[in-house]
Amino acid sequence: CGIVGYIGTQAATEIMLAGLEKLEYRGYDSAGIALVSEGELDRVRAKGKLRNLREKLEMQANPAQLGIGHTRWATHGKPEEHNAHPHTDTKKRIAVVQNGIIENYRELREELKKLGHEFLSETDTEVIPHLIAEFFSNPPAPAHAHIPSLLLEAVRQAVMKLKGAFAIAVISADFPDELIVVRQQAPLVIGFGQGEFFCASDTPAIVQYTRAVLPLENGELARLTPLGVEVYNFAGDRLKKTPRTLNWNPILVEKQGFRHFMVKEIYEQPGVVRTCLEAYLNHQWNPDSDQSPINLGIPTELYSDLEHIQIVACGTSWHAGLVGKYLLQELAQIHTNIEYASEFRYSPPPITANTLTIGITQSGETADTLAALAMVKERRENQPAKYQAKLLGITNRVDSSLASIVPDLIDTRAGIEIGVAATKSFIAQLMAFYFLALDLAYHRKTLSNVQIEEIITELRQLPAQIEIILESQERYIEELAHEFTETTDFIFVGRGINYPIALEGALKLKEISYIHAEGYPSGELKHGPIALLDAKVPVVAIAMPGKVYEKTLSNAQEAKARDSRLIGVIAMDDKEAAETFDELLPVPQVNELLSPVLTVIPLQLLSYHIAARRGLDVDQPRNLAKSVTVE
Ligand code: G6P
Repeated sequence: CGIVGYIGTQAATEIMLAGLEKLEYRGYDSAGIALVSEGELDRVRAKGKLRNLREKLEMQANPAQLGIGHTRWATHGKPEEHNAHPHTDTKKRIAVVQNGIIENYRELREELKKLGHEFLSETDTEVIPHLIAEFFSNPPAPAHAHIPSLLLEAVRQAVMKLKGAFAIAVISADFPDELIVVRQQAPLVIGFGQGEFFCASDTPAIVQYTRAVLPLENGELARLTPLGVEVYNFAGDRLKKTPRTLNWNPILVEKQGFRHFMVKEIYEQPGVVRTCLEAYLNHQWNPDSDQSPINLGIPTELYSDLEHIQIVACGTSWHAGLVGKYLLQELAQIHTNIEYASEFRYSPPPITANTLTIGITQSGETADTLAALAMVKERRENQPAKYQAKLLGITNRVDSSLASIVPDLIDTRAGIEIGVAATKSFIAQLMAFYFLALDLAYHRKTLSNVQIEEIITELRQLPAQIEIILESQERYIEELAHEFTETTDFIFVGRGINYPIALEGALKLKEISYIHAEGYPSGELKHGPIALLDAKVPVVAIAMPGKVYEKTLSNAQEAKARDSRLIGVIAMDDKEAAETFDELLPVPQVNELLSPVLTVIPLQLLSYHIAARRGLDVDQPRNLAKSVTVE
């Protein structure tokens, strides 16, 4: 979910709608805003996309200069108007928006019902305005002496009763000059303008108004008034804070002539790879030098005595981590495991010595990944030295919550990604793993400098090679997509380092076209999935020259013998492969270990064009959210 808030001298509605538009990637099944003016609280909510809310608001101009807004990704309660935020207390004087989950809401709701509070939704959030209201009618404890505002104190006392992970914004008709915000394990940033202040779940919502921002930390709450911002901890102590300046460009969050953000972001990939090469290669390096060819800016102590790497991630980031596993094992000869963060948390493997844990999350906010990393930290505390936690994050948002959990980060530098289906952030994550694996290989001497130099030379060719794919394939793939308007199932297969790309190809297709798609290691096809194959089920096989090439081609033949239409991601000029497949998605010939950076591109284009052809909402597919801040 995404939250915004405004207090100042302009009409709040438009500022909040514009902000919510930028946050729609966080959820978009319903939206709402609440405004305070002339002692009245006015709330408007609508099911479905933000435009429905906008239409409702256009019918009634409200000049309020204080408001909060929300775009929802349903957790508790269906996406209906009565479950949309903001929620209010029984008297409709207090309004609250929340991102996260209140775990103990059932108990709280029962208690509050006994006290006469009426509940109108199935959400967990609704307990919050009632708890705040309860403070006013029945102060549970004396107000904290140093807190200058009763509303702030009521929110503070309410928050102390909540269990879970949440970010909250609160306004009240009885406090027309105050906006209260809280952060506990879900992101919240405050923006500083001239006599006006903003809050939001993420910076894109406010960057068009101000670059001066203050991200709240866990366990903090703040009071925004037209005069300024005061920050407190949950104990009620005032904290000293200074905003910092964002140095990014709001243009990045515009479509710039592309039909969808996703395709714009696909086209940004050559530039992203160039940026990564520029940032992380040591350009003075040659095979005779005694420095690492890679400059990730992370302390080499992370590498000392390393015996084992474990990676935790979700979704597309998990796929990047799986490619990373192959690279770390192959190039740096280091035993590597990868786990889904949500699984790791409840069945973590036994603690191993000299282990580096890598959390990979493009948003830096995925609750499961953050929780898994926090757990690693906790489990390894007070252990002998060799069992101590060594943590590294790989993220596209170095200003995210991930930074407060892991001391060292690799910034993937893809630029903000808006399309819910990850594309350029995935490519950038792959680059991070190439650099990490090469840096480790250099320090562990598992590759010679000459071998490293060869790989670097090949890495430098990737941007131009991606451009070749985009230029030569786009039209063809767009045409090909027409042929799958009726298709209901797809199988993707790949082996070795291209197995994760088969998974990613299938995930992209599922996410945006709603076609059932599964990715398998090619060798597993015959052990089950082959039973699904017939003329109606196309098979996409990644068959790049390398050690698994022949085997992959034979696996593809097995599918062909079951009448499946065969689509091959193959190397340009590979005649043998060209004869095997019905449709060809050729990419430049490349070292097998580097091939995932190329083979994923036609699969991104294929899923994009199939979804666009079906007229679907490519950038905001149903039921998904880009950043899932609940566990
Ligand atoms: C969500 C998105 C996926 C993404 C996953 C992990 O489910 O819809 O596209 O891969 O989260 O996100 P992260 O920000 O941790 O990489």
